Amino acid sequence: MLAGSEPGPSLTLTPEPSVPTFDVATSPLTSADRALVAVGAFAAASGERSDPPELAPDALQLAEALDLDVVAELSSLDFDGSVGSLARIPTRGQIPAATVLVVGLGKTDDAGATQLRRAAAAVAGAAERVTDLGTSLHLAVADLEPEAAAQAVAEGLLLGSYRFSSFQTDPRPFELTSVTFHAPENDDAVRRGADVAIITAGAACLTRDLVNTPPQAKRPPALADRAAAEVADLPIVVNILDEQALADGGYGGILGVGQGSSEPPRLVELTYAPEGASRHVVLVGKGITFDTGGISLKPSASMETMKLDMAGAATVLATVKAAAQLELPVKVTGLMALAENMPSGTATRVSDVLTMKDGTTVEVINTDAEGRLVLGDALVHASELEPDAIVDVATLTGAATVALGSRIGALLSSDDDLAAAIERAGEDSGEPLWRLPLASEEYGERLEGAIADIKNSAGREAGTIFASLFLHRFVGEDIPWAHLDVAGTAWADEARGEISKGGTGVPVRTLLSWLRSA
Ligand code: BES
Ligand code: MN
Ligand code: ZN
Repeated sequence: MLAGSEPGPSLTLTPEPSVPTFDVATSPLTSADRALVAVGAFAAASGERSDPPELAPDALQLAEALDLDVVAELSSLDFDGSVGSLARIPTRGQIPAATVLVVGLGKTDDAGATQLRRAAAAVAGAAERVTDLGTSLHLAVADLEPEAAAQAVAEGLLLGSYRFSSFQTDPRPFELTSVTFHAPENDDAVRRGADVAIITAGAACLTRDLVNTPPQAKRPPALADRAAAEVADLPIVVNILDEQALADGGYGGILGVGQGSSEPPRLVELTYAPEGASRHVVLVGKGITFDTGGISLKPSASMETMKLDMAGAATVLATVKAAAQLELPVKVTGLMALAENMPSGTATRVSDVLTMKDGTTVEVINTDAEGRLVLGDALVHASELEPDAIVDVATLTGAATVALGSRIGALLSSDDDLAAAIERAGEDSGEPLWRLPLASEEYGERLEGAIADIKNSAGREAGTIFASLFLHRFVGEDIPWAHLDVAGTAWADEARGEISKGGTGVPVRTLLSWLRSA
């Protein structure tokens, strides 16, 4: 579906290995006839490694059935209960399962959905070579609602079993295909939590797939078609603006960034409008399918990961798709601003002036500051829809990574309530965000000083803030707006817990949590 449209190696996509499916049984975990059963344990409250761990509620009954001093056993295995730490205990025929896998949940007082999710991801990693798993980990954290707990565990299992092997000729399959939640009580809530997780983790994994896809296979027209195909069976209206429609509509930013490429840019509009929707949210995603920097060419080391630069657009696609699958009572419009930023004889030059969709003229000081140009046009389009809120997602500035690293995303907003709600959703989803100031008082005038109305870059200082001030200029007055700069968090150099190496799928689950909450 995502075939490259240029001459070159033809890349055939092989199907991704199947993810585990979930069943819910009302029988206790002690009777689970599975290769592996997973239970939780907490780190010693004292914080001393030498103090023994403490079994979580889901583990107590199992430990009794094993007729074994499990805590002593864990201590002898040097198990400290830190989040995601693992120990295997043979069952010696005392219960039907062959092996008990104990996973650490950290200290009792800190344990919540984030710790459960991360622990479940570690379980998935350890279960890669078994076919079936039984668990009651959703019971491990006493003060979590059963549905939220089951969602966290199922998300961890799904996110932790993600592999991307579409471009490998002989991929090694992930063997865990079947997970049973043993839920003697609240089995309906557990089923609901698992079903939500299948959609939310599925959305994160779709984003990962698209980010991990090589750039020759996701050039703007191909990615636009893939987006339409992804939502074809859902109540989502797709409108793709091609280069002619973009020219007719005056999208000078998107066209200017895309004009160096042999493949033209696209703006994809996805509309999910359920009957009786309480509000309308527009999501806008940066979709640079490869960012060379353009004429302001990046050094090659900085270019190595630049297929990630459409992560915002992939996030938007996956979020709108999941909103429809979850049947959320919110109208959601997704805008994917797709262009390939290439240097060539037709590329935008440094110091060229572009006219944006709202008529603003922009001097292009640096063709590598391209994200704000495509997003500016898309934000004008979004504002014309007069929504209740606009949220954009973009791998916008290296400066966000300098400030916050690769584990915390940057959040900038014109609206305190919106910012707080998104911040909370990020925390609940294990995708932390930190708010930076928009600082228009302090830095607003730095947009000026061009031969045009504004310029697209103002040097190295406060790069994330400057980019946000640029974007804010294109948001309709009085529309609450938030900007997520995920340059650091959309990609990981190493796997960590539920975060996969390469595309991470951040911040899809944050957006879904936010859309579900209000
Ligand atoms: N796509 C990059 C930002 C980026 C950098 C994302 C590293 C992920 C990892 C963006 O288009 C860019 O090149 N930004 C420039 C802006 C500068 C020229 C004002 C940057 O951050 O250096
Ligand atoms: Mn760039
Ligand atoms: Zn970029």
